[in-house]
Amino acid sequence: MKFLALFLIALLASCHGAEVAESLAAQERSVSSNIVDGLEALKIVMENGSEKHNIPVVSPLKLEHRQFSFSTGELSANGEVQDFTLEGLSAYDIVVMKTNLILSRIDYELNFPSLNLTTQYKADVGSGYRMEREGGAFLALEDLNISGRISYSLGVISGELSVKSINVYVKVGKVVSEIENLSKYRILNDKLNEIIVEFITLSINDNTDWVANYINELLTPMCNNLIDGRSLSDILGLLTNL
Ligand SMILES: *[C@@H]1O[C@H](CO)[C@@H](O)[C@H](O)[C@H]1NC(C)=O
Ligand SMILES: *[C@@H]1O[C@H](CO)[C@@H](O)[C@H](O)[C@H]1NC(C)=O
Ligand SMILES: *[C@@H]1O[C@H](CO)[C@@H](O)[C@H](O)[C@H]1NC(C)=O
Ligand SMILES: *[C@@H]1O[C@H](CO)[C@@H](O)[C@H](O)[C@H]1NC(C)=O
Repeated sequence: MKFLALFLIALLASCHGAEVAESLAAQERSVSSNIVDGLEALKIVMENGSEKHNIPVVSPLKLEHRQFSFSTGELSANGEVQDFTLEGLSAYDIVVMKTNLILSRIDYELNFPSLNLTTQYKADVGSGYRMEREGGAFLALEDLNISGRISYSLGVISGELSVKSINVYVKVGKVVSEIENLSKYRILNDKLNEIIVEFITLSINDNTDWVANYINELLTPMCNNLIDGRSLSDILGLLTNL
């Protein structure tokens, strides 16, 4: 999360890097294309990691063994996953990247064709009574769109950058859930997977404002804390030093 915030700041700071002699439209295009280049470079960091910044490979993200526990309402589950792989974090297409230097904002839209996880699981699930379950699982979010607007301000004299808001809207086109052995009865197992698909789809698509507010409240202060005390050239250095 901290890395993401740093990355964002570096992108914003690059707004200052454009040639002043260029026309406004050309400056805006150049900022947008810097950001696109930054996001393309980020793909390589995700796939390859960065020793210098102590960033592990996250695409694919592999975990050998993890305990988990969650509970929502009446349903709860405790268990562990084995051979967990998350794919697709770096497989995004940049659909929109538009900078408006006058209004100090950037509109963006990213599309993830498929973000999916494959794992073996063992869980103690239940609602009222407990059941031991284990097997393979595959979950995917397909055609996942992340879009929104980042608003910032640059002090005219101080050149000080601050982030005003970060809006993130998430929409998913299709959810796939193929979890084995939720029930030993095939029909019931399919039904349970359908319920999971519906739950995830609604959680994402019907809570866009809640998610947007949550992310804004989390990321905006984080960005501003990280900016604190850094000069613009320090921040720009972060981008080129990945
Ligand atoms: C990825 O990392 C390997 C070795 O760790 C390196 O040889 C390769 O050049 C890197 N690829 C890119 C695109 O940076
Ligand atoms: C999982 O996601 C990756 C990256 O988006 C994609 O290449 C792969 O086809 C997906 N796997 C499945 C089974 O959908
Ligand atoms: C995601 O964005 C693409 C391109 O803008 C659009 O074609 C697609 O319908 C969107 N999908 C969802 C689920 O909103
Ligand atoms: C899980 O389900 C698969 C396929 O439905 C089956 O082959 C396997 O034996 C089951 N495993 C357990 C531990 O129940």
